[in-house]
Amino acid sequence: MLFSALLLFGLSVTGVAANYVPYEDEIDNEVFVPGDIDHELYERQNNFRTQYWANENANLSWTSGPGGSYRVSWNQRSGGNFVVGKGYSPGAVTRVNYTGQFQVNGNSYLALYGWTLDPLVEYYVIESFGIHNPSDNANSTCYGTFQSDGGTYEVWMKWRVNAPSIIGTATFPQFWSVRTRRHVGGSINTTRHFEAYRRAGLRMGRLLDMFLGIEGQAGNGSANITVGALPPGNVPETATPTIRTERPSQSPTCTPRL
Ligand SMILES: *[C@@H]1O[C@H](CO)[C@@H](O)[C@H](O)[C@H]1NC(C)=O
Ligand SMILES: *[C@@H]1O[C@H](CO)[C@@H](O)[C@H](O)[C@H]1NC(C)=O
Ligand SMILES: *[C@@H]1O[C@H](CO)[C@@H](O)[C@H](O)[C@H]1NC(C)=O
Ligand SMILES: *[C@@H]1O[C@H](CO)[C@@H](O)[C@H](O)[C@H]1NC(C)=O
Ligand SMILES: *[C@@H]1O[C@H](CO)[C@@H](O)[C@H](O)[C@H]1NC(C)=O
Ligand SMILES: *[C@@H]1O[C@H](CO)[C@@H](O)[C@H](O)[C@H]1NC(C)=O
Repeated sequence: MLFSALLLFGLSVTGVAANYVPYEDEIDNEVFVPGDIDHELYERQNNFRTQYWANENANLSWTSGPGGSYRVSWNQRSGGNFVVGKGYSPGAVTRVNYTGQFQVNGNSYLALYGWTLDPLVEYYVIESFGIHNPSDNANSTCYGTFQSDGGTYEVWMKWRVNAPSIIGTATFPQFWSVRTRRHVGGSINTTRHFEAYRRAGLRMGRLLDMFLGIEGQAGNGSANITVGALPPGNVPETATPTIRTERPSQSPTCTPRL
């Protein structure tokens, strides 16, 4: 997620200093600030890991709450990009529960994402987003749809060629499940997603991590998320935009059943 965004929005590395709120790591007592390209932080906290990454144009404020909770707000400058999330690492959790709120003007993703090794794969279960459907890319391929957790997801794949990864520069596929009706909160049956990838012929490797995170790109927004808890009631759904300016021939969606 974080790496794809760098290309998507043409990151500039010559911007002015970010107006940031430093985040103090509770274990190492170091201060991390957005500004270091490729800076990532993994923190172990009450069985949840925290991920934080930001580029030098990112403008955000975030706090890590108890357990699986966190809060973030942002107002990005051109080229700003960050990822904040909590989850499980190492871990293969079959039902990832989360609840919270997510408000976005512009482009941002709410997703469960992580990596596998052997083969190297970056995967995302996109639960909600702002204006840009991540499948709207000239090089992405749709493999079909499946049902999970009260919704329909489309399965997409795109190759990343000589791109940054957790093992350095590499060529690897990204798998995306994109929910056709966006929602914020629920239970993600990861087994079901991974089985759908397998049926599509998309092979994953050894699972490394799972983070329920926010990626902020252009625009502003805010979110309060708690991983490890379910919403108190039914959550509203909104139709996912199907405008795919880079894929006009395959608009509006992909239909084969996986
Ligand atoms: C960063 O976000 C804050 C809060 O929304 C805003 O007041 C400030 O103008 C932003 N800074 C930049 C450089 O965009
Ligand atoms: C998610 O919620 C379900 C239903 O309460 C529960 O069975 C499951 O253990 C939860 N998952 C995690 C990882 O806590
Ligand atoms: C699609 O892939 C080709 C060949 O790798 C590349 O040159 C092009 O920039 C890619 N387009 C997009 C939109 O990613
Ligand atoms: C999760 O998905 C798997 C595979 O489809 C299924 O066997 C299992 O019953 C599902 N679990 C829940 C809690 O829905
Ligand atoms: C957030 O973006 C919206 C839409 O571009 C804009 O109307 C609003 O003023 C922005 N809010 C802030 C705090 O910059
Ligand atoms: C998150 O919670 C704070 C405090 O309760 C609230 O002010 C803010 O609007 C919430 N953010 C979202 C996106 O709901």
